Amino acid sequence: MKIGVLTGGGDCPGLNAVIRAIVRKGTFHYQDEFLGFSEGWRGVLEDKTQPLDLHAIAGILPRGGTILRTSRTNPAKHSSGLDTCVENLKKHGIEALIAIGGDDTQSVAQRLHEKGINVVGVPKTIDNDLSGTDFCFGFDTAVNIATEAIDRVHTTAEAHNRVIVVEVMGRDSGWIAAYSGLAGGADVILLPERPFDIDDVSEIIRKRHARGRYFSVVVAAEGAKLATDVDPQHGAPVVTDLSKDEFGHVRLGGIGQVLAREIEKRTGFETRTVVLGHLQRGGSPTAFDRVLATRYGTGAIDMVHNGQFGCMVALHGTAIVAVPLSAAIANTRRVDPVLIEVALGLHDPLTTGQPVASTVPVPGAHRRAEHAAKPEEGSGKHAPAAAHPHPHK
Ligand code: F6P
Repeated sequence: MKIGVLTGGGDCPGLNAVIRAIVRKGTFHYQDEFLGFSEGWRGVLEDKTQPLDLHAIAGILPRGGTILRTSRTNPAKHSSGLDTCVENLKKHGIEALIAIGGDDTQSVAQRLHEKGINVVGVPKTIDNDLSGTDFCFGFDTAVNIATEAIDRVHTTAEAHNRVIVVEVMGRDSGWIAAYSGLAGGADVILLPERPFDIDDVSEIIRKRHARGRYFSVVVAAEGAKLATDVDPQHGAPVVTDLSKDEFGHVRLGGIGQVLAREIEKRTGFETRTVVLGHLQRGGSPTAFDRVLATRYGTGAIDMVHNGQFGCMVALHGTAIVAVPLSAAIANTRRVDPVLIEVALGLHDPLTTGQPVASTVPVPGAHRRAEHAAKPEEGSGKHAPAAAHPHPHK
C-alpha cells in the first residue's frame, strides 16, 4: 500500500520512534511504500512532501523532535482547505494516512475520514489529555524532566530558605503537574482542574513553615486558574499572548510569576519562579516512551492493514487497541480524581473538615464477602466477615 505519514501540533519526545516503527513494520511485513508529509497538516494542504523509507528513519529512535517537522496549521481554517488536502492525497496515490498528533490533529483526521480518506490516528501530547487512551507517549519523558527539575529546585530552595514555584506545561489538564509534583514531593500542586485561592496557597505555605520547615516548592500547571470571587469553581488561566492559533488556542504562561509575587506578598517568604517551558518537550524520549511509541507505530500499521480506518491506536491498561477518532476527540481527559486524592492525603488540610479518606479495594473482596455472608455448612456458625479495607489516614 502507499501510506502517508505526518506529525502535527506541538512536538513531543517519541515522535521519531513512532515513525520508525511504522516504516519498519510496513516495509518488512507488508511491503508498504511511504510518503512523508512535512510540517503537519501544512504539508498536506500545501503539498510539501519528503521521502520516508528505511534510509530516512535510520538512527532516529532516540532522537527528540520529528524528522517530518510539525506545525499547528488547521486546513479547516483555510478556504476549501480540507478539499485541497483530499486532492493532494489523491494526487500522490495515498491509500491510507497515519496522523500522529493530539486532539487538534486528530480532529482534522476525523474531518478527512468523513470525506472518505482512510485515516488512522496515533495519540501524541506531553499534556496526556487525549481521551480514548490511558497514556500518550511523550508524557513520561516530560514528567521525568519536570521531576528532575523539582529535585534540583528543592536543594537550592532549602539552601536559601526560599519558596520556589515551578511552572510546568499542561494547558487544560494538569497531568504533568500532578505526576511530577507527586514524584518530586511538591508542597503545593496546582492544576487547571481545580481553580485555587491564592490566600489558601499562602496559608498552606505559612502552616508548613510554622511547623519548622524553612522552604517550600510549589508546582503549577501553566493552565492553573485563580478562582474568582464570583464563582470559585471557575477562573481564567494567565496568558502571555491573547492572539489565537488556527485551533483557537491563546498562548499560556506567566502563572509562575503571578504566584511568586503573590505568595511573597502574603507570606513575606522570599519566592522565585522557574518556568520549564519547552525543555519538557525537547530531547531524547525515556525508555517507557520509546517502547510505547514503538507499540503505537506497529499498532497503527496493523490497523491500516486491518482496514480499521477512522480509528486511533490507544493504550488500554497494557493492551494496544483501536478506538474511534470521534471518541478520542470528544473530551479533554482530566487528571484522575484518585490521583488528586492521593496528593491531598499527603498534606495538612486547611480546614478541619472531612479527612481525605478513600476506600482501597481489596482484590477478590467481593467474592470473599459473598462467601462470608453464607453460614459455614454444618458448623452452625457464621464465617468471619471479610476484612474491611482501611481508609487512608
Ligand atoms: O499541547 C502541548 C503544549 O506543550 C501545551 O502544554 C502548551 O500550552 C503548548 O503545547 C505550547 O505550544 P507552543 O509550542 O506553540 O508554544
